[in-house]
Amino acid sequence: MIVKEFISKPHLKTVNRGSFTWSSPSNIALVKYWGKKEHQIPENPSISFTLNNCKTTTSLTFSKKESIEDFSFEVFLDGEKKDDFKPKIKTFFERITIYLPFLKSYRFKIETSNTFPHSSGIASSASGMSALALCLMSIEKDLIGDMSDDYFINKASFLARLGSGSACRSIEGSLVVWGKHDYIEGSSDLYGLKYPFEVHNNFKNYQDSILLVDKGEKQVSSTVGHNLMHGHPFAQERFKQAHENLATLITILKTGDVDRFIEIVESEALTLHAMMMTSMPYFILMKPNTLEIINKIWAFREKTGSKICFTLDAGANVHVLYPEIETKDVLKFIKNELVAYCQNGHYICDNIGFGAKQL
Ligand code: DP6
Repeated sequence: MIVKEFISKPHLKTVNRGSFTWSSPSNIALVKYWGKKEHQIPENPSISFTLNNCKTTTSLTFSKKESIEDFSFEVFLDGEKKDDFKPKIKTFFERITIYLPFLKSYRFKIETSNTFPHSSGIASSASGMSALALCLMSIEKDLIGDMSDDYFINKASFLARLGSGSACRSIEGSLVVWGKHDYIEGSSDLYGLKYPFEVHNNFKNYQDSILLVDKGEKQVSSTVGHNLMHGHPFAQERFKQAHENLATLITILKTGDVDRFIEIVESEALTLHAMMMTSMPYFILMKPNTLEIINKIWAFREKTGSKICFTLDAGANVHVLYPEIETKDVLKFIKNELVAYCQNGHYICDNIGFGAKQL
């Protein structure tokens, strides 16, 4: 599938060398992306909060080379050479070279660092791939000379998607929709769209404390996970449900109905894990401590009337979501009752952010 609107215009300028740096955040999905078709096309639309503190900063240094036969790049994480990152980036370059024809004409040095520990179980693919896509777009903008901000952002999100699906939701903030939805004009399977409707003050500056239950390597890679939805007995119903949940969320976000928000968000998290438990082969990605935390959150909500809730990624860590006004009480609750279930007592406090920044 070739998307014509993102094929490069002729390059009017010659640029021999340079360097760009972007910092790009992670995001946490409220309605989950789980299941994809060829070319990184999602089976259903998803929506996420963009995070603020969990981010990747990437510097891309480039210089012109003689041969244009193959890609040439080196990758460094926190100053250390990381050859094991190369295959994923090579696949990414192969996928996007039709949209960025200069890729084989330069030698690249990719220097990256995350604000969260690499082995924290927090996926760095969304922040990492979006930061790299933005650096590449800065080069393209230089070469073309003239490019609108909208095109820059859409194409950066489009490219990031080809690196990792959820990465396309990390370019902007504070809420981003990815995937075609009937009620959201401009929504697309190809790139993320900044949520275009009214958002009630209840959802402004929402907090996300990430409880690190298991910092190990992912038990199931996202590629394997998404593939489990092919031929999954409940797949079609699930994809339909995601459309419905997103439609409901539009009203919730507008009216500020936090109770309904909690229902949708927790149900989405559990459905994601239910899909993994009911696929063939099947996986349980929650750990006993994940369940302990969920039960504690439910008990706390029952007892105090708090609007705290949880969501999960494809792993054991728990994202604790809550309105800003509850920050003091919830942090006290986390310290007193939940830290015990975190690996080495480790958790990360984050909140909604506004997207990537050029440095
Ligand atoms: C569970 O974006 O990591 O976090 O496209 O294969 O790179 P790839 O998958 P990825 O999947 C993320 C899935 C999820 C839910 C979500 O973020 O919507």
